[in-house]
Amino acid sequence: MPRIIEPFRIKMVEPIRMTTAEERERYLEAAGFNLFKLPADAIVIDLLTDSGTGAMSSEQWAALMRGDESYAGSSSWERFERAVKDIFGFEHVIPTHQGRAAERILASTLCRPGDVVPNNTHFDTTRANIEAAGTRAVDLPCGESHRLDSVFPFKGDIDLEALERSLDENAGRVPFAMITVTNNGGGGQPVSMENIRRASEICRARGVPFYLDACRFAENAYFIQQRTPEYRETSLLDIAREMFSYADGCTMSAKKDGMANIGGFLCSNDDAVARHEEELLILTEGFPTYGGLAGRDLEAIAVGLYEALDPDYQRYRTASTRYLGEHIVAGGVPIVQPPGGHAIYIDAATFLPHIPRSEYPGQALAIELYRQGGVRSVEIGSVMLGQRDAETGVEVAAEHELLRLAIPRRVYTKSHIDYVVEITLEVAARADSIRGVRIVEQAEALRHFSATFEPVQEAAAPVS
Ligand code: F0G
Repeated sequence: MPRIIEPFRIKMVEPIRMTTAEERERYLEAAGFNLFKLPADAIVIDLLTDSGTGAMSSEQWAALMRGDESYAGSSSWERFERAVKDIFGFEHVIPTHQGRAAERILASTLCRPGDVVPNNTHFDTTRANIEAAGTRAVDLPCGESHRLDSVFPFKGDIDLEALERSLDENAGRVPFAMITVTNNGGGGQPVSMENIRRASEICRARGVPFYLDACRFAENAYFIQQRTPEYRETSLLDIAREMFSYADGCTMSAKKDGMANIGGFLCSNDDAVARHEEELLILTEGFPTYGGLAGRDLEAIAVGLYEALDPDYQRYRTASTRYLGEHIVAGGVPIVQPPGGHAIYIDAATFLPHIPRSEYPGQALAIELYRQGGVRSVEIGSVMLGQRDAETGVEVAAEHELLRLAIPRRVYTKSHIDYVVEITLEVAARADSIRGVRIVEQAEALRHFSATFEPVQEAAAPVS
């Protein structure tokens, strides 16, 4: 098997500024040890997110020049709509400025107070938009997903029995059910075709619309192709079309598998629902032939959606992510197995067992990766997901303390990934001496974006 190489040449470069250890220490202090508050040019390798951080292709840049900025009826819209309908297959396409705008319009159209929306795992903006409508967002990940070291191939699956139960117990109060592909909240794990099909059958038998959160649909299609024998010869485009054929609509952030820096859309097959959604769209996003986007953005997405389905690209992308995972695992760093499509998730609680969960091992590790080599990652643990009781102030920890290394699309080469491996292993070599952190200041909601931290001075008492 020949070596898998980056299937692109580099035509334009963006310099990376190297920083010294002293500079990074000063940046950390100034940012209150919150990596969201760092200036981007203080970062050597930025693995904060794979969202909107990708590099566009020469075809996308060429398409940008064709952008038709007419307020209504632009030809860029026609190309965008044609591409989305070709791949996703839904009747109605509503352009939005990013994924969460699609979620907000969907939730305010369909959700009512007292309703329930099941999902494998809601992404935080999806949850927030559903809850803002007074509806309960319920996560029903499959059993295997709870075991971080299990290599089950489709750990993103929804628990079908739990879905059935949830629909029956809440009959009449489920405006739609959803599956997120791949499951970002659950370690970037894919969802099998069978799981999507059966979830769809369960929903349709009860008259409940079934939606996909399609952000990483192409990575999911690739995993289906690679991990399901009967799909080995099926093209990624046909796999994607089949996935969407089971759904009644979808939300999409084109900042992921749209290969664009901004954009999103909402799809539906229901005329009345789409009409209402378009009314809301005009209120806050824009006219239905551009949503919150410029004509040139629509062009970039129309091209990018197909590029995400290029098998050479997906082979390289998943190989690059897997390479990072396998090499840090070989150095003794525990990760959520198997490596996902867009990110590696380090199991920080297992990696730093001497740091109690109340001292945020994921955040402590994020700080150390930056301190060691300017690598920015994001905590997905109790800082982000911990729930505080409003009255007592007592905190309930998240299920897992994870640190996500998300890989931007077509941005970093193998030597950049080698650098991340080296930095991670240097941190691993001094893991015992890493201290936890305390929160100094925090906001009521979405505190991970703005909270400030300080290092805990004494080592924690040994766990008995
Ligand atoms: N759904 C999923 C599964 C996501 O991962 C995201 C964004 C969204 C919806 C919202 O899309 O950002 O365009 O409004 N995820 C980014 C991340 C922010 O870092 O995982 P958006």
